[in-house]
Amino acid sequence: MDLETLAVLRTDDGVRALATAAEVSGADPLRAAAAMRARGVPATLAAAALTQIALRRQAAGKFGAEADRMFFTRPGLEQATRSVVADRRADRLAAAGVATLADLGCGIGADALAAARRGIAVHAVDAEALGLADRMTVACADATGVAVERYEGVFADPARRRAGGARVFDPRSYSPPWDFVAALPQRVPRTVLKLAPGIDHALIPAGAEAQWVSVAGDLVEAAFWTGPLAAVPRRATLVSAAGTAVELFGSGVAAAPVGPVGAYLYDPDPAVVRAHLVAEFAEMVGGRLADASIAYVHADAYTATPFARAVEITDVLPFSLKRLRALVRDRGVGRLEIRKRGSALDPAQLRRDLRLSGPHEAALVLTRVAGAPTALLGRAKR
Ligand SMILES: C[S@@+](CC[C@H](N)C(=O)[O-])C[C@H]1O[C@@H](n2cnc3c(N)ncnc32)[C@H](O)[C@@H]1O
Repeated sequence: MDLETLAVLRTDDGVRALATAAEVSGADPLRAAAAMRARGVPATLAAAALTQIALRRQAAGKFGAEADRMFFTRPGLEQATRSVVADRRADRLAAAGVATLADLGCGIGADALAAARRGIAVHAVDAEALGLADRMTVACADATGVAVERYEGVFADPARRRAGGARVFDPRSYSPPWDFVAALPQRVPRTVLKLAPGIDHALIPAGAEAQWVSVAGDLVEAAFWTGPLAAVPRRATLVSAAGTAVELFGSGVAAAPVGPVGAYLYDPDPAVVRAHLVAEFAEMVGGRLADASIAYVHADAYTATPFARAVEITDVLPFSLKRLRALVRDRGVGRLEIRKRGSALDPAQLRRDLRLSGPHEAALVLTRVAGAPTALLGRAKR
């Protein structure tokens, strides 16, 4: 969507076209376009309105009901922070006394809006212009030219995609570039950098807090909090779809004890694993690793925890397709949930090879125990 299209969608005709599009759009785009024509909406406006409605529907997962009042481009939506995550970050910035914030590369403004809602005065800058609400100044400018020292806090969420939409994994290819982003904490101590969850730990600025965030079990971002904003070395924040959260903290360098497989296996949330907090988690459930390089935690007793999915183990066997097939046949397993770490097996292929049939449900974990490929069968704890 260009600025001209945005302007047209905000006219009375545009608002009507959006309302019509919301009514007629469904699974079949050709039928929806025909219905718009039948109601006298000009073709270009109809196309823009239908696209916008489709994007708003997708956006509901990130922004809830507010998505219906927002305008999206596809790349803008894909890169935008979910409101449950942006709100938590804004709370934390406000609690740390940040009253003025420069949001460098604000995109569609998810983080900027969340901060403004908390009463923070935001200067939102993007290379592509956007209309945002009061309490904000918006500039269509290159972030690298902003006099950030005028603000108490800086938030930067660099673009990790090229113009064509392809993802960028090397931070040196971020925009604004990594060198600029990484130097921000020296200019404004209270800086927050939002990064892809796969970011290399070696890039965590000295003394910064590195946080990994998951929403409903999906890893969504990493954030580095610098200067006085750093509270702990590493933090895993697990946000539920409804926006409530639990957090685990730690050094990120502790090693979990290693020992035998137990009656329960825990598969920690990806935020815990990426934050290198598996040792802290293991301590919490009185557990250990069965292989020093694999992030499954084994324990003899069950502890209910929001930080991991647990499986009650009934059988442990060295991996062998033949033995495993015989075991699931014996147990009458017709439905199997497969988890794996440290195994190159393809779960879909294995599922076919196991020829499952029977009334029971089971959980299978493919992993290594003291280096040896191992299959653990059990029941998922719900
Ligand atoms: C990952 S998106 C930001 C998403 C935003 N935090 C949100 O939740 O909606 C990154 C943004 O940075 C902008 N950008 C990239 N390089 C820039 C630069 N040098 N100056 C200003 N903005 C830039 C892009 O246009 C893009 O909108």
